[in-house]
Amino acid sequence: MALQLGDIAPDFTAPTADGEINFHEWLGESWGILFSHPADFTPVCTTELGKVAQLSAEFAARNTRVAAVSVDSSEDHRQWSQDIAETQGHEVDFPMIADPDRRVSSLYGMIHPNASDTATVRSVFVIGPDKRIKLTLTYPASTGRNFREILRVIDSLQLTAEHQVATPADWEDGDNVIITPAVSDAEAARRFPGYKTIKPYLRVTNQPGRA
Ligand code: BEZ
Repeated sequence: MALQLGDIAPDFTAPTADGEINFHEWLGESWGILFSHPADFTPVCTTELGKVAQLSAEFAARNTRVAAVSVDSSEDHRQWSQDIAETQGHEVDFPMIADPDRRVSSLYGMIHPNASDTATVRSVFVIGPDKRIKLTLTYPASTGRNFREILRVIDSLQLTAEHQVATPADWEDGDNVIITPAVSDAEAARRFPGYKTIKPYLRVTNQPGRA
C-alpha cells in the first residue's frame, strides 16, 4: 500500500554523490524533504535541482534538510551536479541519492509503472522531526514543481504543530489563521484574544507570534 500521512518514513542506507547516508540518522531532529526526479541530465530536473540549491538558506531557516533521489548512479549525479551549477548558477549542496537498484524508490512508491516503469515520478515527501510523513505530492515528469509552495507548506506544518490553528487557502507566513474546531470559544478567547467569529465554525485570528 502507498505511504500515507502519519506513516513512519521508511529508513534506508544508500549511496549519494558524496558518500553513503543513513536516512534517519542524517535527518536527526530536523524536518526533512525527500524528493524524486525522473532522471539525471534532463531539462526540467536540472531546473528543479538548481532551484532547490538556490533555496538552500530558506530550507535551513526552517530546520529542514533536503535530499533528492533518482535511479541514476552516484557517478552520474556527480557529473550532472556540475551542469546544474553551470546552467542554474547554484551548487547542489544537498545529498543526491543514487538508487540504480530502485530500493529507495520502491520503499517510497516513487515508480508508477503506468507512467513509466523505468523512472521515478516527481514525488515529494515532507517528514517531521518524529520521522512521520506530513505531506506527499506527486507530479508528472512534464511539470516542474514549485518549491516555494513546499516552503509555504512547511511554514504551515511547523506553525500548526505548535498552535491549535490551521491555515486557509493561499495562506502565506504572517497572514491570519483559522482556530481549529477542537478549541472551545472560551479557550479561544484565552489563547487568541481579539479573535473574530465569521461563522461558529470559522474563527480567525492573527498568526500566533506575530503582531
Ligand atoms: C525533464 O526533467 O526534463 C524530464 C524528465 C523525464 C521526462 C520528461 C522531462
